[in-house]
Amino acid sequence: MSSQPRIVYLNGAFLPAEEASLSIFDRGFLFGDGIYEVTAVLEGKLIDAALHLTRLKRSVGEIGIHLPVTTDEIVEIERRLVRENNLTEGLVYLQVTRGAADRDFLYSDDLKPTLLLFTQEKRLEHVASAEKGVAVATVPDLRWARRDIKSVCLLPQVMAKREAKARGASEAWMVEEGVVTEGASSTAYIVTTDGRLITRGSSSKTLPGCTRLAALALAREKGLTVEERPFTLEEAFGAQEAGLTSASNFVVSVVSIDGRPVGDGKPGPVIRRLRELYLENARQTAI
Ligand code: PDD
Repeated sequence: MSSQPRIVYLNGAFLPAEEASLSIFDRGFLFGDGIYEVTAVLEGKLIDAALHLTRLKRSVGEIGIHLPVTTDEIVEIERRLVRENNLTEGLVYLQVTRGAADRDFLYSDDLKPTLLLFTQEKRLEHVASAEKGVAVATVPDLRWARRDIKSVCLLPQVMAKREAKARGASEAWMVEEGVVTEGASSTAYIVTTDGRLITRGSSSKTLPGCTRLAALALAREKGLTVEERPFTLEEAFGAQEAGLTSASNFVVSVVSIDGRPVGDGKPGPVIRRLRELYLENARQTAI
């Protein structure tokens, strides 16, 4: 991190992180009553910005939080944060909560939502995981029934990642009734021995990944057979390749599941190609 103080955005103001403070009564803190988004930054530009804003609007709509600014204004805030923090590669985090009020499950409709954005430096492109792939460990999916809402209630994912780390893996794959739902913070894929790319279709069972949306469109455009359907852990064990996508990883090969190598245990051509395609397109469409 640079020695300059990090500038964050909080409720209309750009200020050093140390000076930003929130009410202890904020419902994001007390109830997890809020929504978040993570957008990648490459070469100082926002990746898939429109997709993240569309999902943000959907998430807040589903839980009845009114965004205090327009999505155009959010883009301006994000760009200004990237500029002021000299961020070339990393992430922009956005969180909007219902606001602060004395603790009560019910809330009045005139609460003022809290809007917080900050940047985080992170290497995304030339990283070891892109070259070597990653190991995943499977855990039971302990989450709620509306995983399509990008809620800040992330305790099951925190627990899943902690367990995966203890088992030597860098991501957890959450499994429910023998089916892989998704990664703790990523979308999950397999490639069958006959080259079909398989990932679960959109429903309330998973978060609709923005990286997934962009990557699948590119895969189809390039003539790859894409099947949107659930896949079982057994299928994953027998797959030729496996992979994951997220704003914080783009497209990465999964080379082992619970210590068992996927295919030959090395990143395979389909997922590697998908990463190249994704990055090429991300650069072209970055804002
Ligand atoms: N997580 N599934 C889950 C459960 C996620 O939390 C994420 C993203 C994804 C991938 O979505 P996208 O491609 O839009 O990033 C799938 C972010 C990166 C996070 O929580 O940090």
